Amino acid sequence: MSEGRVAIDMGTNGASKHQPAGLGQQRRGATVSFHNIDYKVTIGGNCLCRKKGTIKEILIDLNGLMKPGLNAIMGATGSGKSSFLDVLAARKDPAGLSGEVLIDGAHQPPNFKCLSGYVVQRHHDSDQWDLW
Ligand SMILES: Nc1ncnc2c1ncn2[C@@H]1O[C@H](COP(=O)(O)OP(=O)(O)O)[C@@H](O)[C@H]1O
Ligand SMILES: [Mg+2]
Repeated sequence: MSEGRVAIDMGTNGASKHQPAGLGQQRRGATVSFHNIDYKVTIGGNCLCRKKGTIKEILIDLNGLMKPGLNAIMGATGSGKSSFLDVLAARKDPAGLSGEVLIDGAHQPPNFKCLSGYVVQRHHDSDQWDLW
């Protein structure tokens, strides 16, 4: 992360400890784990005139676990929250990405991008849209 750090709140997820009768065998959501996540982009390069770009490291060595329920990704603006969410949802260019995201301990299926999603949220005090 270039301008701060992303904190991932994994200690208190919102899953209820009490299950209604008969739900014991049902799936209650997936566990997402991420291992050694690095993400970088190249800025300013131009293949035509062989100008090399500069590499900007967006995410550096992120590791953690998200259990079913409510999880939070917290950090200052520019710390990499949206980039990290994109990585979890398989929406980043694999070229600048390394590390692993596992769903219940298995690799994401090839169509994971179609199975996952998130909602963009509008700031109340500005005209800008932002990904949380
Ligand atoms: N494609 C990109 N090219 C250059 N810089 C980027 C790109 N994507 C993200 N960044 C930079 O990475 C940092 C993290 O961005 P972002 O993930 O949007 O943070 P947050 O969601 O926490 O505000 C910012 O400095 C942003 O400018
Ligand atoms: Mg964001």
